[in-house]
Amino acid sequence: MTQDELKKAVGWAALEYVKPDTIVGVGTGSTASHFIDALATMKGKIEGAVSSSEASTAKLKSYGIPVFDCNEVDTLDIYVDGADEINHQMQMIKGGGAALTREKIIAGVAKTFICIVDGSKQVDILGKFPLPIEVIPMARSYVARELVKLGGLPEYRENVVTDNGNVILDIYNLNILDPIALENKINGIPGVVTVGLFANRGADIVLMGTDNGVKTIK
Ligand code: 5RP
Repeated sequence: MTQDELKKAVGWAALEYVKPDTIVGVGTGSTASHFIDALATMKGKIEGAVSSSEASTAKLKSYGIPVFDCNEVDTLDIYVDGADEINHQMQMIKGGGAALTREKIIAGVAKTFICIVDGSKQVDILGKFPLPIEVIPMARSYVARELVKLGGLPEYRENVVTDNGNVILDIYNLNILDPIALENKINGIPGVVTVGLFANRGADIVLMGTDNGVKTIK
């Protein structure tokens, strides 16, 4: 199967976890986009969605699925989203699509985070995929210098402005042995909005697309 077929398989498999009359947390990216296609088949049976990006919001609305502001909901049963890397402890690197901050907020609101990935995303140690960090524009150079002190090689993601009006630094050369400690450390640098390490709040369920079918990991 191609990578996109594996992404589609997990996007549709996540539909099983959607309960009628609920508001569903929806992620961003090509795998989440398959989930939105699947979710559209439940239009009218769910109340709607909370979305992690303008791109996902546009797609949800194009299907006629109501999109709620995150402030309108106290809790969500599930949040369904992809990842750039995931380890065996279900901790992730996210933000390849620059939506990491809203993704982390919705993951925090949700009771259950369902991560949908193709098998190529699974790693033993996080860090081969450059770690995205959303940064307030005026802090870009300062934050980059602080990240060099941590052993990273920051690269400014050219021509990208996040949905929150900020910029992205991608950090190369990291071998993340203690994801929780690194998440806390980077989040403590002034000017950092969010680091795309999802370690304090990892996934609860992983649906992984493989050539032998969708594997469920809990
Ligand atoms: C967006 C994300 C995505 O979940 C991540 O980049 C994976 O994307 P894709 O499903 O396209 O492989 O974190 O900010």
